[in-house]
Amino acid sequence: MLKGKHIVLGITGGIAAYKSVMLLRLLVKAGAEVQIVITPAGKEFITPVTLSALSGKPVISEFFTANTGEWHSHVDIGLWADAMVIAPATASSIAKMANGVADNMLITTYLSAKAPVFLAPAMDLDMMAHPSTQRNIATLRSYGNHIIEPAEGELASHLVGKGRMAEPQEIFNTLARYFAAKEGSLRGRKVLITAGPTYERIDPVRFIGNFSTGKMGYAIADEAAARGADVTIVSGPVAVRPSDSEAVKVVSVESAREMLTATQERVADADIVILAAAVADYAPAHPADHKIKREKSADAPTIELVKNPDIARTLGAEKRDNQIFVGFALETDDADANGRAKLVAKNLDMIVVNSLADAGAGFGTDTNVVTIIDAATGSARRFPLKSKRAVAADILDAVESAQSAGKQ
Ligand code: C5P
Repeated sequence: MLKGKHIVLGITGGIAAYKSVMLLRLLVKAGAEVQIVITPAGKEFITPVTLSALSGKPVISEFFTANTGEWHSHVDIGLWADAMVIAPATASSIAKMANGVADNMLITTYLSAKAPVFLAPAMDLDMMAHPSTQRNIATLRSYGNHIIEPAEGELASHLVGKGRMAEPQEIFNTLARYFAAKEGSLRGRKVLITAGPTYERIDPVRFIGNFSTGKMGYAIADEAAARGADVTIVSGPVAVRPSDSEAVKVVSVESAREMLTATQERVADADIVILAAAVADYAPAHPADHKIKREKSADAPTIELVKNPDIARTLGAEKRDNQIFVGFALETDDADANGRAKLVAKNLDMIVVNSLADAGAGFGTDTNVVTIIDAATGSARRFPLKSKRAVAADILDAVESAQSAGKQ
C-alpha cells in the first residue's frame, strides 16, 4: 500500500532521531519515495549523509542550498507529499506546529502541506506531562493531525514512561493502515478467520491436538488487513501473532466448542469468512477435573471420544447470499474430489485444498501449495509453491473476483 507513495519524513532534534533511520529503511523497503526534511537541531543528532544515502534523495534542511543558492520550495514539497510524518517530534517543534511558528524549513513545509500529517512525539516524561505540551498536542489533534504514541504493551515492557517515541515499526504500521483504509481493495469489509489447532482437554495438563501452527490463517489475516479489511481471527493456541496487532483483532480460544461459539457470535457481521483452522474432529467425552494419575490403575486408561461440531458446516448452513465462505481441506489423496465434496457438504463458496504429499505444503512450513476450487464456476486452479503470504494473496484475489462476479 505504501509502494510509490510520496512521504515527507520530518526529523527534529531529539535523541530518538536515530530511530528515524529505521523508519526510513522500512518506508524505502515498502517502495515509498521519501523526502527527508530535517531541522537544524535534528542535524546535531543524525547526519544528513546517512539519510540521503538511504532515501536516495538530498536531505532538505535550509531554505537555500548554501553553495548553489537553489531555493527549496516548501509549498512544492507540501504538495508533493501523500503523507507527512514527523518523527521524532520534539516539544519545541510540536509547539511551533501548534502555533504556526515557521522559523525553519520543516515547520514551513508543515504549514503548506495538504497531505495528512502524522507525528510521533519524543521527549522526556516531564516535558510530555507539562500542560503546555499537552495543550499543543491537543491543538494538533484538533487540526486533524494524527498523533502516534507507543503501544500500551510496549510501555509496560520497557518500563519507560510516557514520552518515549513509538517504535519505527509502529509508526510504519500506522501509515500502512491509513493508506489501506483509504485505498485498499478490501476497505470497509469485515473478514472473519479461524486459525490454528484446537486443544481438547483430557485432564488439566493433557490434551488432544494437532500440529497446526496457524501460519496460513495469520498470513491471510495480515494480507486482508493490508488490503484495508477489518479483520478478526478466532485463534486456537498458537505462537504466531499478527504483523500489526492494531489492524487484526485476535480472539483466543482453546477447544473446538469455544471456537464455534466465538465464531458464531461474530459471523453475522462478516462479509468474508475464512475457515483455516485445523479443528480437532473428536474431544474426550469426560475430561477429568484432576490430573489422571499413573499410580491409580494398573492398566492404561481408555479415553472415550465424542464428535466435535463441524464449525464450517454449522455456519455454512446459515450463510447469507452476500457472504463469501472459504474453507480449507488438507487431503492426502483424491484431493480434488474430496475438496469438491466438502465444498457442497459445508455450503462453501470456495475451498482451498492442500496436500501433505506436496513438499513445502501443510503444517509448520512457511510455504504452501494449494488448489482453489470455486463453487460457482466449478473451476480448480492449482498454484505453484509459494510463501504463505503469497498464497494468502491468491486466496483473497479469488475472493475479490468471486465477490465482484456475484454483484453483476
Ligand atoms: O471436514 P474437514 O475437517 O476436512 O474440513 C475442513 C474444513 O472444515 C476446514 O475449512 C476447517 O476449518 C473446517 N472445519 C470446521 N470444523 C470442524 C472441522 C473442520 O470448521 N470440526
